[in-house]
Parts: sequence; structure tokens; C-alpha cells
Amino acid sequence: MQRRKLVAGNWKLNGALASNRSLLEALRGSAYAGADCAVLVPFPYLAQAGEILKGSRVAWGAQDVSEHDAGAFTGEVSAPMLAEFGCRYVAVGHSERRALFAEDDATVARKMAAAMKGGVTPILCVGETLAEREAGQTAAVVERQLKAVVDGPGTALFAQAVVAYEPVWAIGTGKTATPDQAQEVHGQIRALLNRWGVEAAVVPLLYGGSVKASNAASLFAMPDVDGGLVGGASLVATEFLDIWRAAAEAGTR
Ligand code: 13P
Repeated sequence: MQRRKLVAGNWKLNGALASNRSLLEALRGSAYAGADCAVLVPFPYLAQAGEILKGSRVAWGAQDVSEHDAGAFTGEVSAPMLAEFGCRYVAVGHSERRALFAEDDATVARKMAAAMKGGVTPILCVGETLAEREAGQTAAVVERQLKAVVDGPGTALFAQAVVAYEPVWAIGTGKTATPDQAQEVHGQIRALLNRWGVEAAVVPLLYGGSVKASNAASLFAMPDVDGGLVGGASLVATEFLDIWRAAAEAGTR
């Protein structure tokens, strides 16, 4: 079955009103119908993204969400709030959240459930560190991260989610996984989901980690790579648009 490709730009902790505007306006003016596109912006810029991108082919979303809907949780932002600002997507369990903000697998699974309940599609990020890869633990680490969803909120969540495989050693390092390395893990993820009773063929699996215009086409050509989660390159309009175009071309082949 043909899955639509998706390219999502994760701005991380970057942006300012003026520079956002020129980037978002460049994206708004473009449309590669063969693939979907989204930007995940810092919370304060959601309103700006919505205002500029409304009516365009580019969706917007956030980089994190609270597991709680409301209450005494200072500093948190909930899924209903994201939904109110028109977010279609939210990343959960990005490796930077896991490593720098001590998010564990169970917390990430609860955030995924909260996003879904609030009507925002979660992009669940998984991936191994370099030490884990070198120790031959890649498949086990990814399985453990995904299994927290099965053991917590339940496998049904996967049917309407996006999964992003982001090897930590490839993030912001310029060291991209080879298309074969990405395909190997994506294939494992799809097989796992199938084993857990999920209709894995409909779950988009994105690759993230130093995706650039120059390597996007070869990654997106792999049968289980349904697009990309793009960090640094999503901050440069021409670069990000070329990645979107590569996804659209791969998606219509
Ligand atoms: P880079 O594309 O900058 O390596 O970042 C990847 C990433 O973390 C996207 O979520």
C-alpha cells in the first residue's frame, strides 16, 4: 500500500518573529502535492505559524506536550492548547527531551496518549545512541522505547501516530545513517508493530538525523522510509523546500 510521504521540520530552540516570517512565507508560497509538510515550532510561535500558514499546504505543530490536560503543572503546555492553536502534529520523546530533560519511556508514552486524546497527531521519536549501536543494541533499544506504548496506553495509539527513527549519533552531527541502515531499522519497526497487532502498513515511519537536500532522495527511496524529521536543514527555506520536493518525487514514483 502507498503511504503518503511526510517531511516535518523540527526548529528546536531556534527562531525569532522576523526570521520566522520570511521562512514561513517562503514555505507558504510552495506546494509539492506529492508529500505532506509540517513545521514544529517553539510554543510562542504557534500563533504566528498558524496565521502565516493557514490555508497553505504546510501544517504546523509543537515539539513537546504535557501528559496532563490542565492543572497545577507550571511551565507545561497541554494537547488541548495545541489543538486550539491549530497544531496537527507534536513530537514526543525526542532524544533531546529524553537525554536533557530526563523523559523516560513511560512518560513519553503518556505524552503520546495525551496528544492523541487532544486531537493532535503525535510523532513518536525513537533511536539509539552511538554506544548502543556499537554494542549491537539498536533493535533492542528501539523495541524498548516502542514497547512502553504497548505496556502503557496501548497499541491502538500507533494506528493514528507517526513514528520517527532518529539515531542519536546522526542528530546534528552531519553523520547521516545510510539509506540501508535507516531501512534496516524501519523494517524492524514495521515488523514489530505488525507483531503487536498494529496495521503497520498505514503507520508513517520518518527518518531523522542530518537529513539534507543532498541525501533526502536516497533515504526516501527506501521502501519503509516514509519521509523525514529534519532539524538544522529545516531552518533554511531553500534546503527544506528541496527536501519536501524530494519526498514528493519519491512519493509519486
Ligand atoms: P538534524 O537534522 O539537525 O540532525 O536534527 C535531527 C532532529 O533531531 C530532528 O528532530
